[in-house]
Amino acid sequence: MLKDTFGRALRDLRISVTDRCNFRCVYCMPREIFGRDYHFLERKEILTFEEIYRSARIFVDLGVRKIRLTGGEPLMRRDLEHLIAMLAELPDIDLTLTTNGSFPVERVPRLKEAGLKRITVSLDSLDNERFQKINDVRFPVRQVLDWIDACADAGLTPVKINMVVRRGYNEKDILAMADRFRGTGHIVRFIEFMDVGTANGWRMEEVVPAAEIVSIIHRVFPLEPLQAHYPGEVARRYRYADGQGEIGIIASVTQPFCGGCTRLRLSAEGKLFTCLFASYGHDLRQLLRSGRSDDDIKQFIRQLWQARDDRYSELRNENTRNLPKIEMSYIGG
Ligand code: GTP
Ligand code: 5AD
Ligand code: SF4
Ligand code: SF4
Repeated sequence: MLKDTFGRALRDLRISVTDRCNFRCVYCMPREIFGRDYHFLERKEILTFEEIYRSARIFVDLGVRKIRLTGGEPLMRRDLEHLIAMLAELPDIDLTLTTNGSFPVERVPRLKEAGLKRITVSLDSLDNERFQKINDVRFPVRQVLDWIDACADAGLTPVKINMVVRRGYNEKDILAMADRFRGTGHIVRFIEFMDVGTANGWRMEEVVPAAEIVSIIHRVFPLEPLQAHYPGEVARRYRYADGQGEIGIIASVTQPFCGGCTRLRLSAEGKLFTCLFASYGHDLRQLLRSGRSDDDIKQFIRQLWQARDDRYSELRNENTRNLPKIEMSYIGG
């Protein structure tokens, strides 16, 4: 099996299908930077569905078992259902995507029919005013809740709900979020605000540590830790002691999980990133477009993975923070 320098296998592929998004979340695509003049990727620069499918097939041969489509906002990519249908043909793959849940709910059954297995929806607050302040495009909470319901109805389950917790913006909403989704079968994941990219003005003081999030919930709804599904799982799992379901905490800042990191990221323009916090990517598109064989490409990926020594979150300090980093909207988390 393919292993990196720390013995980590290659299991998960996260494919960004576009760097565009219809939201301007203040912690991800702040308007001052992602305004009218921002240079997004052009059509000819981004991988075609055929190129993505071919890459995915090669990755599956190399051991990948989970594929997550991301963006920007993946549903901004026209005809995404078609790509999903292509990828769904790959054997034994957990196929999922992360969305902001802002598109017409009629699209949900089409995603399911195309072969999507489950879904993660981002939602940072249940308070409309605060949510709109975060998404910065006046998008209402109600519509995201409708989208979540539609996903559950379509059987894209369990629905996961990502809440990025940032002090001064939405830490007041932690308990309401837990309360709202207890007993629904959905899994809320509380995410520590991370220093991804350089656009979001990240400061340690704005991180609400995992331990604090857990204690806020535990005081009202007692929690018990659960075993990870697999070593190196991104979210730490907890169950409600009264049997009303589970939550996850993603603590990349206070409890890094690089030790079991089996994730590789493919950007919309075909660059491979061996870490969410990498400074540069490796050009796969050039190989795909220069008539190279699948075996050549496999060899390139093998070498890349075998040389991998990333563990940014474990090394994070004053110095690493100033390294050049790709933006979340470019690589999709
Ligand atoms: P499941 O397959 O549903 O368990 O998904 P996941 O746990 O991989 O979660 P998801 O893709 O929804 O990611 C949730 C959050 O965790 C996002 O904010 C990601 O950016 C963050 N995240 C995911 N993978 C990594 C990683 O390798 N490193 C860091 N630092 N954060 C990550
Ligand atoms: N810190 C933590 N999570 C983030 N996300 C985007 N930017 C950040 C950040 N700086 C989340 C999104 C989405 C997921 C892919 O990553 O809200 O749920
Ligand atoms: Fe917000 Fe996600 Fe869009 Fe970033 S990509 S602006 S987190 S909806
Ligand atoms: Fe993996 Fe990099 Fe995240 Fe660590 S910081 S878990 S190596 S992507």
